[in-house]
Amino acid sequence: MFQPTHLLLMKTIDSYNFAGKRALVRVDFNVPLSEKSEITDDTRIQATLPTIRKIIADGGSCILMSHLGRPKDGPTEKYSLKHLVNPLSVILGVPVKFADDCIGASALDQAASLQLGEILLLENLRFYKEEEKGDAAFAEKLSKLGDVWVNDAFGTAHRAHASTAVIAEFFAPDKRFFGTVMESEVIAADKVLKQSEKPFTAIIGGAKVSDKIMIVENLLDRATDVIIGGGMAYTFMKARGGKIGSSLCEDDRLDTARELLQKALDKGVSIHLPEDSVIADKFAADAETMVRPSDAIPDGWMGLDIGPKACGIFAEVIRKSKTILWNGPMGVFEMEVFQAGTKAIADAVAEATEHGAYSLVGGGDSVAAVNKFGYSDKVSYVSTGGGAMLEYFEGKVLPGIAAVNE
Ligand code: 3PG
Ligand code: MG
Repeated sequence: MFQPTHLLLMKTIDSYNFAGKRALVRVDFNVPLSEKSEITDDTRIQATLPTIRKIIADGGSCILMSHLGRPKDGPTEKYSLKHLVNPLSVILGVPVKFADDCIGASALDQAASLQLGEILLLENLRFYKEEEKGDAAFAEKLSKLGDVWVNDAFGTAHRAHASTAVIAEFFAPDKRFFGTVMESEVIAADKVLKQSEKPFTAIIGGAKVSDKIMIVENLLDRATDVIIGGGMAYTFMKARGGKIGSSLCEDDRLDTARELLQKALDKGVSIHLPEDSVIADKFAADAETMVRPSDAIPDGWMGLDIGPKACGIFAEVIRKSKTILWNGPMGVFEMEVFQAGTKAIADAVAEATEHGAYSLVGGGDSVAAVNKFGYSDKVSYVSTGGGAMLEYFEGKVLPGIAAVNE
């Protein structure tokens, strides 16, 4: 049976009885909001329900704290967590209380007077610059709100902020826990990173090579195949001597791309680059398009999606895989004309999963694509973490995980 080594060290909420306790829970409710401040994707909220329900079912109360967006100048209407109170109450089926400041006398009062089973949501932590600075005095003030601290904000686990990491020092080791989001994210990631059944294919896409160098490098020690698509593929194409027209290219990364290709060769990992591309005469939904080999793109034209040949070759590699990690789209899937590549990959991943492969999709854009095309139930695991999942796969120790474990 699969037994993640990491998890043996994880202090999860399962083994704790929250009866009579006020649990201060760091969640990642950094959800997308529309112009009217309505939630457009509540995946991150839904994911935390098991944690909240366990605390309440035990007879505890819950103080939820989160950031929303990146407010720069203190309290800002647009970034207020008050927009989440009603939807959260509906999702949970109980009225959620709101504290319009995350620290201070009134928040303390509201937290202290919570009755068993009650839930209090605090105002945006990032309304204080101390949050992102990891200020200890601010973390200590937050810590006074709860008897125990539960970190369930996997999406923010790569940030060493006051509420995600520094706060740990104000709770004894037996009063810090991982919530169920954290637990399932780590189980899923470790299943891929440490227990992968071969063939293991990593599908890496997105615009920039520079964002993905470390993940590719770390995966060269684990994967059997690495598929590279999206804008970043053209830097590799040029590095191999191809003509890429005006496709995205990071000229200062050509050597890195060459080195990665050489390392893959040395380690016996197959790198698959898109043989052809859907190219366009401008970056626009109404551009002229045609299909050309990815290394023979005419001047003035740019590759905006992988082409039909590449789709077929990539799909075949994916269908033979037993473990699949997918981070980053294959093209500009937000525009219909350039979404066939990402869709074809989603299809192949779904098919492989149906035939027993384990598939994990992580990273903001690929998760958005999977959701958009309706594949979220057809893959094994969809991560709630963008940057956090990426850094985990780069082999980094995430501060939000280390803080609970220490
Ligand atoms: C995210 O969505 O990436 C997390 O919520 C972290 O937010 P940040 O990137 O603004 O730190
Ligand atoms: Mg981010």
